[in-house]
Amino acid sequence: MSAPTQCLLAFCFTILFILPCHAQITLKDAFKDYFLIGAALNQSQFSGLATSEISLITAQFNSISPENALKWAAVHPAPNRYDFTAADRYVEFGEAHHMFIVGHNLVWHYQTPAWVFQDESGKPVDRDTLLKRMRDHISTVVGRYRGRIAGWDVVNEALNNDGTLRQSPWLQIIGEDYLVKAYQFAHEADPHAQLYYNDYMLELPAKRAGAIALIQKLQAQGIHVAVGLQGHYWFDRPTTVEIDDAIKAFSNLGVNVMITELDVDALPLPANPLTLNADSNFELKSELNPYTNGLPDIVQQTLAKRYADIFAVFLKNRAAIKRVTFWGVTDADSWLNYWPVRGRTNYPLLFDRRCRPKPAFDAVVRAARSTASP
Ligand code: GLA
Repeated sequence: MSAPTQCLLAFCFTILFILPCHAQITLKDAFKDYFLIGAALNQSQFSGLATSEISLITAQFNSISPENALKWAAVHPAPNRYDFTAADRYVEFGEAHHMFIVGHNLVWHYQTPAWVFQDESGKPVDRDTLLKRMRDHISTVVGRYRGRIAGWDVVNEALNNDGTLRQSPWLQIIGEDYLVKAYQFAHEADPHAQLYYNDYMLELPAKRAGAIALIQKLQAQGIHVAVGLQGHYWFDRPTTVEIDDAIKAFSNLGVNVMITELDVDALPLPANPLTLNADSNFELKSELNPYTNGLPDIVQQTLAKRYADIFAVFLKNRAAIKRVTFWGVTDADSWLNYWPVRGRTNYPLLFDRRCRPKPAFDAVVRAARSTASP
């Protein structure tokens, strides 16, 4: 065979076998004209230990959120002690891969150490002390990553499901203006960072109304805020109409919308979701954990269809939505293996336990492609 023929054959081989591999569709490419696609990362992922997942993460996602690394308990475990070891790795990972880096979160009633709200004798602190602690925390954490973390979940889950304000120690000790103060402190610490209000079940009409009132109060104080719908969904709730209504209601306020913690629980519910809270921990029974040997095809298809329907709503509202973030990368690392029942085998994400795309992945990509073609 002549040298030019060999070259030609080598070229054809490259086109046939190599390029299709590189051109293989990824989430971030499929949605590049619509919104960012993110994932929440755990420490072994952003510190580089979970080697098999790193290439998946960098290929598929262009935004990251820290599953736990930036929560108060992790970065500020004791009054005079900050620990940024994990958080620094998280931010470095995002920078190394040119990702949109999210900070999560600053003011929450959960995963916040008891000392924050107490004096040395264990009694509740007064308003001024708690405000000072809040300001110190926010200015230290946000200030450390000023210009590097692009947006912050400033307040997480301030509302009850009926739309009233949650009786958290923040509300009880400081009063309602803890909300405005938190956003003002965050803005002071990084005037260019985007600031978010983040919560679950905002698709419930009453809770949505409470969030709208809260955002309007912030807006009246000149605070620019965007809203994060966590998006912890089940097969049959919320309905796609409720999701659509919620996105529209928030975008009508002139705020950007993000889906910040998306997953779809594929297992039987142990109780009415409206009665669940972060501490829920039901007894592990086999009927609550039916798919320990793999997801039956029929359920796999139901999950794919649910994801297709959800993404059809997101795509319809693409002018309002800036980011869709999954709460985890593969089914193996989802919190839904532990909540609201510990030790289950759940299937809530787009990649299986061996990092392989599931039918739900194909369904989501198809939804993006069908949006592109008229
Ligand atoms: C909430 C929080 C997240 C995470 C999930 C469960 O949605 O905002 O940080 O803790 O619960 O993992």
